[in-house]
Amino acid sequence: MSHPVLRLGLIGYGTVGHAFARALLESQDRIARRLSARVQLTRLAVRHPDRVRVHAPAFRVCDDPLGVASDPSIDIIVEATGDPGASTWLLTSLARGAATISANKQAIASSPSLLGALADRHPLLHCEGAVAAALPIVRALRDSLDGEEILDIRGILNGTTTFLLSEVEQGHTFEEALGAAVRAGLAEAEPTADLSGADAAAKLAILATMAWRTPVTRDQVRVRGVDKRIAEPARVAFANGRRIRLVAEAWHDSALRLVVEPRALDANDPLATVTGVTNAVELHATLAGQLRWFGPGAGGDRTASAILGDLFAAIRSSVASSAGTTRSPVAVNEKVAA
Ligand SMILES: NC(=O)c1ccc[n+]([C@@H]2O[C@H](COP(=O)([O-])OP(=O)(O)OC[C@H]3O[C@@H](n4cnc5c(N)ncnc54)[C@H](OP(=O)(O)O)[C@@H]3O)[C@@H](O)[C@H]2O)c1
Repeated sequence: MSHPVLRLGLIGYGTVGHAFARALLESQDRIARRLSARVQLTRLAVRHPDRVRVHAPAFRVCDDPLGVASDPSIDIIVEATGDPGASTWLLTSLARGAATISANKQAIASSPSLLGALADRHPLLHCEGAVAAALPIVRALRDSLDGEEILDIRGILNGTTTFLLSEVEQGHTFEEALGAAVRAGLAEAEPTADLSGADAAAKLAILATMAWRTPVTRDQVRVRGVDKRIAEPARVAFANGRRIRLVAEAWHDSALRLVVEPRALDANDPLATVTGVTNAVELHATLAGQLRWFGPGAGGDRTASAILGDLFAAIRSSVASSAGTTRSPVAVNEKVAA
């Protein structure tokens, strides 16, 4: 029997979009085997179509993201641009019933409509890659912990500032550390969003939205970032067995509190061990207790992994709904008998 073919539109073909397109191509056999479907990348939108290096011959390249998002022949939209205005494309895609996957924390964390959809567990909206790349934290909050009361979330969500702080505590100047971060590809030449804490605040807003089921925009996060004045306190903290890290924290007491700020952590605090692009998320839930995730929070392949997971979820539910069933009777009977 031939597998159904789902048509995919990709918006953005930079570090993440490119890695995802390659991963998709390499995953076709797994998609056929595990999901009994095929996915065809049919359209791509970027700002500069003339610069695109093509992996698969079949797709059309344009500079019209809204046209791709609203194309009724496209079943799945994957968006990885970083454009804060991408919420329009994402909402357009959702409104016409397409599975919509985004790695764009900037757009999501500033859109009450998208955050509202996430808070309500909209079945077509997925954004695992938007927070801490490969760490499966969004899906954990959405699915595994959906029945739980989340008490608090604490994390290190920005690799650039972790790298800078690790360098300055070793005696490098802030400027030297920033230069090294740019050369290593960890920081943009213009790293304002990382240093100001805006990047971590956007990720925290998405996590809080999932955890407390209410739209939290990044403007609701109290933010203090890092600049060259952090170098001396970071060195002193290190000499005293502590580590300054840019910590993002959300908790609920009389109201929802959200903070991103540099904090001196005890050296034995698990978050203090984080270096480089590693991200860390720790949460407390009423029944589960304390849970922690550590892993690569940036990079093309790391984020492609998260997007691929979202894609598999989207394909599975699309195939199930077009078949009109989610499980064969035999599988249900076997489970009961076991
Ligand atoms: N890089 C990471 O490690 C990482 C990790 C997790 C999440 N993310 C998120 O993933 C997204 C993409 O990041 P990236 O690092 O891949 O960025 P990038 O390398 O700068 O690539 C951005 C891509 O989006 C396209 N684009 C930007 N604005 C556009 C617009 N208005 N219309 C059409 N295309 C547009 C660019 O087109 P041109 O090539 O023509 O300029 C480019 O192909 C961001 O939201 C980022 O926060 C990134």
